[in-house]
Amino acid sequence: MAINLKVNGVSRSVNAEPDTPLLYVLRNDLELNGAKFGCGLSQCGTCTVLVEGRAIRSCVTPISQIGQREVTTIEGLGTLDKLHPLQRAFIDEQAAQCGYCTNGMIMSAKELLDRTPRPTEAQVREGLAGHLCRCGGYNRIVRAVMRAAQANGRT
Ligand code: FES
Ligand code: FES
Repeated sequence: MAINLKVNGVSRSVNAEPDTPLLYVLRNDLELNGAKFGCGLSQCGTCTVLVEGRAIRSCVTPISQIGQREVTTIEGLGTLDKLHPLQRAFIDEQAAQCGYCTNGMIMSAKELLDRTPRPTEAQVREGLAGHLCRCGGYNRIVRAVMRAAQANGRT
């Protein structure tokens, strides 16, 4: 059946069953491949996107639950010419090794910084606690989020 979604500010229509996970629709139908499939069980965080600014795990979220709420994926944060401060900071801190977790880390960090623009390191660690990085890059990732918060403070 046809289902309408609003993704990154654009209305999209997809042909899918209502119980299809949002992640599958984003990747397979809309070719937005920033969100990754990791566990498929809401345990790793790499599929994270924002719905009305709240981080959710798209691998376990049926599209029927989205309705007309705005979905933001990492493709909606910045552009190659104008990176989002979090994307810039992840590059500057070299906070990705394989990069598989990066989408989820950045999307949850965005929710955190939107809510708490100048977080403490403890708050950043707490905000990202549900995200797994199999490369063990946690310290660089936390530094990148702190750096983005500082950059935000200057703009
Ligand atoms: S793929 Fe969604 S939480 Fe792991
Ligand atoms: S950078 Fe490889 S999983 Fe995090």
